[in-house]
Amino acid sequence: MAVKGSRECVSLFTGGDIAMPDHGTDETSRTIVITGATRGLGRALAEGFVALGHTVAGCGRSDRAIAELRQALGEPHDFAVLDVTSDEAVKEWAEGLINSFGAPDLLLNNAAVINRSATLWELSAAEFDQIIDINIKGTANVLRWFVPAMVARRRGVIVNFSSEWGRTTSPEVAPYCATKWAIEGLTRALAQELPRGLAAIPLNPGIINTDMLRTSFGVAASRFPDPRQWAEKAVPFLLRLGPKDNGKPLDVT
Ligand SMILES: NC(=O)c1ccc[n+]([C@@H]2O[C@H](COP(=O)([O-])OP(=O)(O)OC[C@H]3O[C@@H](n4cnc5c(N)ncnc54)[C@H](OP(=O)(O)O)[C@@H]3O)[C@@H](O)[C@H]2O)c1
Repeated sequence: MAVKGSRECVSLFTGGDIAMPDHGTDETSRTIVITGATRGLGRALAEGFVALGHTVAGCGRSDRAIAELRQALGEPHDFAVLDVTSDEAVKEWAEGLINSFGAPDLLLNNAAVINRSATLWELSAAEFDQIIDINIKGTANVLRWFVPAMVARRRGVIVNFSSEWGRTTSPEVAPYCATKWAIEGLTRALAQELPRGLAAIPLNPGIINTDMLRTSFGVAASRFPDPRQWAEKAVPFLLRLGPKDNGKPLDVT
């Protein structure tokens, strides 16, 4: 794959220990990993990056949606049925992708769920645990198995999807708010751990008409842009991120 060759050349030039410059919106093909690529924002981003010539690897739990993505986007892109709550499965997935494509240039921790709208005390322990397991522990699993290769390469951008509800609160979404506030803290601490050349960013994507939004907003969700419209600005925004953004809580603008 062309991107692998160019990376190897870069590594020869730098001896592997000099931080690469920020890429801005250059034309270099990137390797991009997206969790939760089967629907919503992840799916629209996958399509947007592929359209620009980048290589995308993604995952989700739905067999049917993954089969459909493979059919629609083809090779060299790589889509796998995966539940991010399984640390062992994430490890295997990450190792396979790193072997095939190298460490990602851009790692998007997008997969998440929201609780059904209810007060905190009305939600069962199982419902609460599921949100924590996917949104926080799933993100940590993905970071655990991809970040070492990114650190070794001294390059790459990690974006952990937060929310307006990672910075503010509303009633009936307490478990979701708890996870998105956690993503903000986890990501800013991670940013302080990364070597020069990398970045970790908590990102509020805005308000977009997806399955998740419909869970909270019902029919009012249709007043907001659809994921493809959102991806028109989110794709170039994400491609512009670099070391200068490390640790900054950002919004798609
Ligand atoms: N939409 C908004 O307005 C909005 C606002 C603020 C923040 N966000 C954030 O943006 C991100 C994307 O949200 P969205 O609106 O696109 O949500 P969505 O339409 O519900 O899509 C969620 C994606 O995550 C995947 N997913 C869920 N649990 C998973 C698991 N255990 N393992 C692997 N994949 C899993 C789903 O695929 P499967 O079901 O196939 O697993 C799906 O592809 C989330 O982090 C969300 O919190 C969204």
